[in-house]
Amino acid sequence: MNHNVMEHIETASVDELRSVQLERLKETLTRAYENSSVYRKKFDQIGVHPDDCQSLEDLAKFPFTSKSDLRENYPFGMFSVPNEQIVRVHASSGTTGQPTVVGYTKQDIVTWSDVVARSLRAAGLTSKDTIQVSYGYGLFTGGLGAHYGVERLGATVVPMSGGQTDRQAQLIHDFKPTALMVTPSYCLNIVEALEKKFGTAKECSLKTGVFGAEPWTNAMRQEIEARLGIDALDIYGLSEVMGPGVAMECLESKDGPTIWEDHFYPEIINPKTGEVLPDGELGELVFTTITKEGMPVIRYRTRDLTRLLPGSVRTMRRMDKIVGRSDDMMIIRGVNVFPSQIEEQILQIPKLLPNYQINITKHGHLDTLHVRVESRIDTSDVEATQLANKLKQKIKTMVGISIHVEVLPQGMLPRSEGKAQRVIDLRHTAVPA
Ligand code: DLL
Repeated sequence: MNHNVMEHIETASVDELRSVQLERLKETLTRAYENSSVYRKKFDQIGVHPDDCQSLEDLAKFPFTSKSDLRENYPFGMFSVPNEQIVRVHASSGTTGQPTVVGYTKQDIVTWSDVVARSLRAAGLTSKDTIQVSYGYGLFTGGLGAHYGVERLGATVVPMSGGQTDRQAQLIHDFKPTALMVTPSYCLNIVEALEKKFGTAKECSLKTGVFGAEPWTNAMRQEIEARLGIDALDIYGLSEVMGPGVAMECLESKDGPTIWEDHFYPEIINPKTGEVLPDGELGELVFTTITKEGMPVIRYRTRDLTRLLPGSVRTMRRMDKIVGRSDDMMIIRGVNVFPSQIEEQILQIPKLLPNYQINITKHGHLDTLHVRVESRIDTSDVEATQLANKLKQKIKTMVGISIHVEVLPQGMLPRSEGKAQRVIDLRHTAVPA
C-alpha cells in the first residue's frame, strides 16, 4: 500500500462503504461468537446469534461491551485468539480500578499502523516529513501506536516519548521535525519551553500538530496554532478499540475527526436508555471493530459524548469534538458542566493562559467549583482580581453557574507530561459551610 496516496475506500460511494461494513460486521460477530466465551455468553444470555445480523441496523440487537467486561476478564479473558497469536499487549493505567488489557495479532498491528499512516496523510504529511512522537511510549497506546504509523507512512520518526520538556524543545530546535504528535496540554508546555529557550516558538520547523488523547476545544486549537505557527489537527482513539487513529481530522477541512469507518463502526446512543440515536444527535459514542482479530469489541461504550456528522472531504462520517467523558461531567447545583466549557471561557480572555485546574469542593451540602488559572502576563493583585471577576462573570453567563476563580502567575500550576488532569475532586475533604 502506498501511504502517500488516498485509499479507494476513503472516497468510495456510501453504498460501497456500507456493503464493506456489513460484510465485515457479520464476520466479526461470527468470529467473536465462535472464539470468545465472553461474547458467546453475552449473546446467548439475550438470545441473539450472529445470523440475526442482516443489516447494519441489526447491530442494535446485540449487547453492549463496557470497561467492566474487560476488568472482569482481566488480564487476557477478552482475547478471541489463542495467546500465542498475540504479538503485543497494551494496558490502561488503572488509576480508577483494575487496569484494562488489550491484545493485538500481527495483522492487527498492520491494520493499526495503516490507519495511523492514513491519519497522518489526512493531516497533509508524507514520507518526506520528520515527526516527533511525544506521546508516552509503553503500556499507553499513544507512543507506539503513533510510532508504527509514522514508519508505515515512510516518514522519519523521532521517538521522544513524554517528559523531559527542555529536551523536547532542544530536539525540535536541532532535528527540525515538521510535525509533532502529543497531547494538546503537553504541547503547550513544550511551547513554553521553546519560548523560554529560544525567545519564540513560532519560528520553529514545525508545520503540523497531531493532537489527541484528551478533550480540547477549538479555542485551544487557535491558541496553539498562533503560538506555534502550525496547523493543529485532532486525532481520536482509545485502547479498547485500537489506540490512536480510530478517527482523524483532515487538513483541508478541519471540521472534526473523520471516523475510519471501514475498520470501526460507530453508533451514538442515549447513555441512559441505550437506544440508538440518529446522526446529528448528541449522545455516547459506541464502537464495534470490524477488522480486529486479537480482541474485537462489539458495541463498546466509550463514555465519550459527541455526535456523528456527515462525511465532508471523505465518504466516512465525522465526529464532532468530544464534549467530554460522561465520567468527567460535574453536576454543580443541578447544572451539568464539562471542563471543556470552562476552557472555552478562559480562552475568551486574552490575558489568561489555558493552563488551568478545576477543584470540586463541598461547602456544607453544596458542591462548588474552584478554578485556578494562570495569567499570560505579570499581573498586580488588583489586575488578578479583575481577571478573576471577569472569568467568573463569563462562566455565570455562558455556563450558568457561580464559581470561585483564582488567577495565578504563569508557571504556578503543575504541568502534565501526557493527559492533563483538569479536575481534582476534593469533596471527601469536606469544608464546613
Ligand atoms: O488516548 C489513545 C490516543 C493516543 C488517542 C494518542 C489519540 C492520541 P486511552 O488512553 O485508552 O487511549 O484513552 C482513550 O481518551 O475515550 C477519550 O475520552 C480520550 N480521547 C482520546 N482522543 C481524544 C480526542 C488514547 N481527540 C480516551 N479528543 C477516549 C477528546 C480524546 N478525547
